[in-house]
Amino acid sequence: MIRLDRISSVIFLVVFVGLGLGFGYGRENSSKRLPTIARHAAAVDAVRLSTADTQDAADWLSNGRTYSEQRFSPLDRITDKNVGQLKPAWQFVLNTSRGQEGTPLVVDGVMYVSTAWSEVYALDARTGKKLWYYDPKVPRDWSVNSCCGPINRGVALWGGKVYTGTLNGHLLALDAGTGEPIWDTFTFPSDEEYTSTGTPVRQYSMAGAPRILKGLVIVGTGGGDQGVRGFVSAYNAETGKLVWRFYTVPGDVSKPAENPILKLAAKTWDGDSGGGGAVWDGIAYDPELDLLYFGTGNPARGVHDKHEDRLFGDSVVAVRPETGEYVWHYQEVPNDVWDYDSTAQLMLADLKIAGRVRRVIIHAPKDGFVYVIDRATGKLISAKPLFTRVNWATGIDPATGRPIENPAARQGSANGKPFVVFPGPLGGHSWQAMSYSPRTRLVYIPVMEMPSIFQVVPIAEKEVSKTSNGEEPEWEYQDQVIAKVKSYYSAHMAAWDPAAQREVWRVNLKGLWHGGTLATAGNLVFQGTSSGDFSAYQANTGKMLWSISVGTAIIAPPISYEVAGDQYVAVTVGWGGSLGLLKGPIGMDNHVPTNLPRVIAFKLNGGYKLQPVSIPAEPPLNPPPDSASAPQIANGRTQYARCLRCHGYCGIGAGDAPDLRYSPMVYNGALLQQVVKGGLLRSGGMPMFGSELSENDLDAIRAYLIHEANVQIAKNKAEHR
Ligand code: HEC
Repeated sequence: MIRLDRISSVIFLVVFVGLGLGFGYGRENSSKRLPTIARHAAAVDAVRLSTADTQDAADWLSNGRTYSEQRFSPLDRITDKNVGQLKPAWQFVLNTSRGQEGTPLVVDGVMYVSTAWSEVYALDARTGKKLWYYDPKVPRDWSVNSCCGPINRGVALWGGKVYTGTLNGHLLALDAGTGEPIWDTFTFPSDEEYTSTGTPVRQYSMAGAPRILKGLVIVGTGGGDQGVRGFVSAYNAETGKLVWRFYTVPGDVSKPAENPILKLAAKTWDGDSGGGGAVWDGIAYDPELDLLYFGTGNPARGVHDKHEDRLFGDSVVAVRPETGEYVWHYQEVPNDVWDYDSTAQLMLADLKIAGRVRRVIIHAPKDGFVYVIDRATGKLISAKPLFTRVNWATGIDPATGRPIENPAARQGSANGKPFVVFPGPLGGHSWQAMSYSPRTRLVYIPVMEMPSIFQVVPIAEKEVSKTSNGEEPEWEYQDQVIAKVKSYYSAHMAAWDPAAQREVWRVNLKGLWHGGTLATAGNLVFQGTSSGDFSAYQANTGKMLWSISVGTAIIAPPISYEVAGDQYVAVTVGWGGSLGLLKGPIGMDNHVPTNLPRVIAFKLNGGYKLQPVSIPAEPPLNPPPDSASAPQIANGRTQYARCLRCHGYCGIGAGDAPDLRYSPMVYNGALLQQVVKGGLLRSGGMPMFGSELSENDLDAIRAYLIHEANVQIAKNKAEHR
């Protein structure tokens, strides 16, 4: 089949992230509740998880704290009256410079933290002292498969074990007391195409936090934008055996569909699905309705002028947890061409709407709308835009639940005129967790108003199959429009009334890509920002009551827990994720330049003093003269797409991988060939490109990087003038 169109965004990218026994609070109660589990580390079971809202204020047992995924802590020792006394209690420095998107879990005085490279730490939640550490040894060059750098959103706890998904697709069960591995299951499908070294040809990755219910570990996968066929799977928590797998999009249409529901889904596609629909973040479970919910990503390739729905792309899907049997779906963006992933956190709440208590899912995906969905039936109750500039659709038809699309948005720049689409592919709101307070009945949502230029690029079949690096920006075009797009960039935290579907207050924030939120019973909302500030706001008014600078960007959501009578608020800090790769022209200049990833815990009158984080000295910038021809530099810029996931836009290093503009190895053409084609630095995580990259193209990359280095020198000079 010939695919005529590839949809791409100029501005990028993502189309384009012995222990607790001694502490003694409430343990008698919980051991009574837990007759079947010995009092050992991570003694979490179905009863404890389902009653955490009312019975277990002290702990943070699962990604969203409880099955409702509300991220509300019932603890109220820290309040809007005394939060001014909040001070650091301890910090624990992580051994990575990459992004931290994870939610730490705390049970019975032990904190479990995952880091960028899927490593796991168990810490004493009172002191931050390390109890054990496990390194799954993810090959560093695997991050080439991940759209958004090496990241991990957290672990799960059940029956004395810690479960973690690794970037390279292993689901691991670790002994919660020792960190020893118990089982290790590879989750990427065996009928995939693999290279001789055992890596899948398609760009699979895994970063989402597992969820656990009824003795099943539920995980999804990443890579939908790169053609991976999305799925969600359930594994036996004791044995690691696959129990069921639900594919979210049809596969090869020349073969019989795996099940009747995929047969129905296939009718909404014109031929092969080409993948997508990855389940890379939001998963929730309702124990009363006994339904498992998950959100799916966009179809891998959108076609701008086709009238297809492409199920189950951009949908919320409900299945039976024991079998994975389909129950209902609600598609938020039929035939998505804008990379609007319906993957954001699925929050369950009981809301009084028009005099009646409704059991709902509150969902604020990247497409910029807030949806309230009946979680028993999947019927839309209401949907409203998060901010006024949302322009891909003018609204959601309450009768059909379908968007009322703006035709110009789907047309993109096909008519030659750039279309500025709100939101862009990073969303109005994405994986950055939101929280809900049952006291204020407000949802606290980290919002970005970050548009993108949407254009339709005709492309031949041959080139489509080459999109293994995802959809890359059209740089020339970008130069002309970036200033306009940047002028719209803004971010805020919205306090949103989901019953009335309106904003009640907002806090405007400088910069973009801020952290998730935490609501507590002390009438507080906590949020960290990319400028490295961690702040507390009064939950009913939005008044800032407390703030501290931690010298490192915060993108992860905070948690709260209690040990030995003290309430703590903790957050993992560390800059990264997709925007972390965009230091250069995209204008991500607002985040704090220092980066020391760590976990920081706060309590009232804590006694730890945070030290300032130092800025590493800048190495000399001595490139050869910029003498290459414009076409060679342009080719180098195109070829550099293979490098930017690790080395950042324009070669401006974004973490572990060095800033290539400063690299003497780039200045030396022969050495560069050895490093890039010959695999000289492979053990350090620099992939071997071999014959995949021609010498000519590598020379072009070199010319491009030398050009960028000279651009920087000119900029530095202009600044010093
Ligand atoms: C999967 C991530 C990844 C990708 C993709 C990648 N690199 Fe690297 N690269 C690294 C890492 C990590 C290092 C540091 C290795 C070390 O220090 O041992 C590195 C080191 C280098 C160095 C040495 C820099 C120095 O001065 O120490 C060069 C040159 C380089 N890469 C060029 C490239 C080019 C050109 C591309 C694209 C064709 C590319 N890399 C793609 C991860 C990557």
